Amino acid sequence: MNELQALLNDSLLRTKHVENAALININEKKVCASTFGFNVPKENALNLIYAFYKNLVQVRREGLYFKEKYYKCVRADEHSICLRNPDGGVIVVKTNTFILVATYRAGMYPSVCVEAVEKLEKMLAVYFDCPGGPENLYVKEVMKPHPGEGEVLVKVSASALNRADLLQRRGTYPPPKGASEILGLEAAGIVAGFGPGCEGRWKIGDAVMALLSGGGQAEYVTVPEGYLMPIPNDMTFIQAAAIPEAWLTAFQLLHFVGKIQKGETVLIHAGASGVGIAAIQLVRLAKAIPIVTAGTQEKLKATANLGAAAGFNYKTEDFSEKVLAFTQGSGVDIILDCVGGSYWEKNLNCLSTDGRWIIYGLLSGGEVHGDLFARLLSKRGSIHTSLLRSRKKEYKEQLVKAFTESVLPCFSGGACPRLRPLVDSTHPLHEIAEAHRCMEENKNIGKIVIEMPPSSEGKA
Ligand SMILES: NC(=O)c1ccc[n+]([C@@H]2O[C@H](COP(=O)([O-])OP(=O)(O)OC[C@H]3O[C@@H](n4cnc5c(N)ncnc54)[C@H](OP(=O)(O)O)[C@@H]3O)[C@@H](O)[C@H]2O)c1
Repeated sequence: MNELQALLNDSLLRTKHVENAALININEKKVCASTFGFNVPKENALNLIYAFYKNLVQVRREGLYFKEKYYKCVRADEHSICLRNPDGGVIVVKTNTFILVATYRAGMYPSVCVEAVEKLEKMLAVYFDCPGGPENLYVKEVMKPHPGEGEVLVKVSASALNRADLLQRRGTYPPPKGASEILGLEAAGIVAGFGPGCEGRWKIGDAVMALLSGGGQAEYVTVPEGYLMPIPNDMTFIQAAAIPEAWLTAFQLLHFVGKIQKGETVLIHAGASGVGIAAIQLVRLAKAIPIVTAGTQEKLKATANLGAAAGFNYKTEDFSEKVLAFTQGSGVDIILDCVGGSYWEKNLNCLSTDGRWIIYGLLSGGEVHGDLFARLLSKRGSIHTSLLRSRKKEYKEQLVKAFTESVLPCFSGGACPRLRPLVDSTHPLHEIAEAHRCMEENKNIGKIVIEMPPSSEGKA
């Protein structure tokens, strides 16, 4: 029994709404599974595909004549059409990939058949079979997800890369319980469907960007409706995909964790990273002063262009001495630290009295050798740590809401200061391994964006 045959049995016959069924794959132009003895000749299959292809709008409106029988449209939405022949007891369901021809039982609900066929739909997604290097990544056909309670289905146009994707690929950062195994913590695209219980905040076709716990590097992703944000005016899907994870992380660290105040100084390590670029601009928006570190002059120049008041190359100079000189000996009020181990002493050197040191990544590792506590205590400093991905749903919804209300308008024309996502490079989905290599080699300034293949139906 092939995979589709098994799915046909599991998803369709078990519904008890159909007796016999055959599935026609539209792209392959053939019958790919059927129940025993139920024949749909190839010629009929081709005729059906052609009938839908010829005038889909008319089929939705007026139904379809097929083999001299009339099939009335009983249900239609953006992705599927369901037709029924009242005399012959035959139902035809068309989705993006399949046409189902089935004989039905008394009391059949068309929606049950549509949902069952939609479950069979596949999509392209980034995949790896075993943890390891970028060479393990490839694009695979997997089952399309279905939105659950309070979830929205998004047709993804673009997603972006994060360090977490690299760690997950290496097998050191598994997705939280219940999250998709597919890589991708953010996406931009259009609303394509709803699960039960959605509150009506979004409609089919809305352009949205989403914070995700996983699953973004695929053609479709499901997401709780409270994690969606509208795409600001005049922004492309590629630019929008560069926002959710990096900007929400930076916003959360500065406001929810660090409680940034006007006039404070903030030291941002890895200033040209996705999170760093967002943090610089958000510190300016909070009327505070951003200082950065980075590993190349080119990166420092890019951060200065986006508002960094000072920047130091951690590879060629002692950033803590430079920061102390810049702050006239007082040190910085907040440190956003994604480097960890190798920076601890220098961080404490340039932290102000009562300063907040916020650790949100460990790019150099987590081991510390030395008298950290005594040094921290002498400054009455505090250490905070934060991870966004594993936070509770309510927390993330609150974060998305606060960001949407207070920051999102500043991405649109006329806002002052105007915020902008920085896209380093764009890679098509099939170049995912190359995109990972680029990030692993620390080449990017801002975000690496992954573009989905154009839709076969020409949408989005
Ligand atoms: N806690 C959370 O909720 C959360 C959420 C999102 C991201 N993060 C973390 O935030 C950090 C940035 O993520 P991203 O996706 O924005 O990264 P990214 O764009 O890939 O940038 C990371 C940059 O960090 C610098 N770097 C790498 N290794 C370093 C080391 N050993 N010492 C000093 N600098 C080093 C490199 O720039 P240089 O050339 O300047 O060295 C690199 O380009 C990562 O650690 C990520 O795990 C945490």
